Amino acid sequence: MNASSSAPYARRRARLAALLGPKGIAIIPSAPEQQRNRDSDFLYRQDSYFYYLTGFDEPKAWLVIAGDSKSTLFCQPKDLEREIWDGFRLGPDAAPAQLGVDAALSVAELDQHLPGLVDGRDTVWYPFATHKALETRIDGWLGSLRARVRYGALCPQKQSDLCALLDEMRLFKDNHEQDIMRRAAQISAGAHVRAMRLSAHMLRAGETVREYHLDAELLHEFRRHGSQYPAYGSIVAAGANACVLHYRADAGEVRDGELVLIDAGCELDGYASDITRTFPANGKFSAPQRALYELVLASQEAAIAATHVGARFTDPHEATVKVLSQGMLDLGLLDKNKVGSVQDVIEKRAYFQFYMHRTGHWLGMDVHDCGNYIEPSEVGTVSERKDPLSGETIKDRPARILQSGMVLTIEPGIYVRAAEGVPEQFHNIGIRIEDDAIVTASGCELISRDVPVTVQEIEALMRE
Ligand code: GLY
Ligand code: MN
Ligand code: MN
Repeated sequence: MNASSSAPYARRRARLAALLGPKGIAIIPSAPEQQRNRDSDFLYRQDSYFYYLTGFDEPKAWLVIAGDSKSTLFCQPKDLEREIWDGFRLGPDAAPAQLGVDAALSVAELDQHLPGLVDGRDTVWYPFATHKALETRIDGWLGSLRARVRYGALCPQKQSDLCALLDEMRLFKDNHEQDIMRRAAQISAGAHVRAMRLSAHMLRAGETVREYHLDAELLHEFRRHGSQYPAYGSIVAAGANACVLHYRADAGEVRDGELVLIDAGCELDGYASDITRTFPANGKFSAPQRALYELVLASQEAAIAATHVGARFTDPHEATVKVLSQGMLDLGLLDKNKVGSVQDVIEKRAYFQFYMHRTGHWLGMDVHDCGNYIEPSEVGTVSERKDPLSGETIKDRPARILQSGMVLTIEPGIYVRAAEGVPEQFHNIGIRIEDDAIVTASGCELISRDVPVTVQEIEALMRE
């Protein structure tokens, strides 16, 4: 992550302060460093909430925002000796000018100052269940304050979950965020193009292709364009591996005649992209591969058409399921004589044998981003039904209504494991097509389409 102009972060802090109320105070820690082994750490990745409000990517930092809008950053003090080993530290003296916070102090003074900052506030807000031992730290500060009540200290009476406020803010991406997400998606699209090309090129040259060869292309393209790291563990799945939903890029051989499923996206300046493409390793779809691919693509088109302001979050999924279910009957994956009509397939959830995940999720700083999937004004409307497969009772609440600035993925798929009654020509084919969409006033903007998606476009690209 790179600190850019401080203005968007200052605007977010001001909006949050208004939500806290004049007597509220919010405490937001940076991400902890994670030891890998001995004195080696995992690559540091800042906490999304902290970065959303600061644009600051150093560890050992805390942000405190008071409801009267004053923000205080606690950060690592300058220390030449440590900076020789670990790199530059901004330090408290430079932080206000650089980050736009009102005040900055050394993190060594956190315990000394926090009780005083909390004194006289009615509610302490912090992210619940996100940071190990945060509650204990906060208890300690409240305890110190309580020890001074005889001298006039006033303890807050309430603690509230800051995630509730920040998740709702983060669900609506401002222009600054949308710009970064468009760039992240473009970089990822270029990486997919590169992997497709390499696969066809190596196979034509008679070379052995392995999943990691394609993964290397992705990483190269991400980093070449300034992405800090992949937004999640890349999936590069050759042949039957595509039917393992959480497969990783490994050493499987990419064989002529098989498909490759790549689900990979870079993270850029704190924002994820999330793209899946499935393509023939040699650049040419076989007839059964093509039939299934066209079906998944048609289901994605139906989902895209259902993604617009005013639609429910679940509408794209329902549109997908309808198209896939009909296709499963038409292609003989499901036997009409056994499962009945398309309506029966949907009601009995028979499609689940080949399509077992949802069609999307919020996308933002986190790949599976925060944000309520239930419409806030309708949380009290609950209906119950029995799941046709598990028999469990499911509580249904009205799904979120899509609004401009929300960003979600649209990612239908089909995964055909070998099984009795399933036509052999489809065995071991796994296909997913995933794009990233910004909800706009008129529908949705697909920001990940710089990588081809139709059969003709993919084959043309891989012929080059
Ligand atoms: N790559 C994770 C997902 O598609 O949800
Ligand atoms: Mn994905
Ligand atoms: Mn996804």
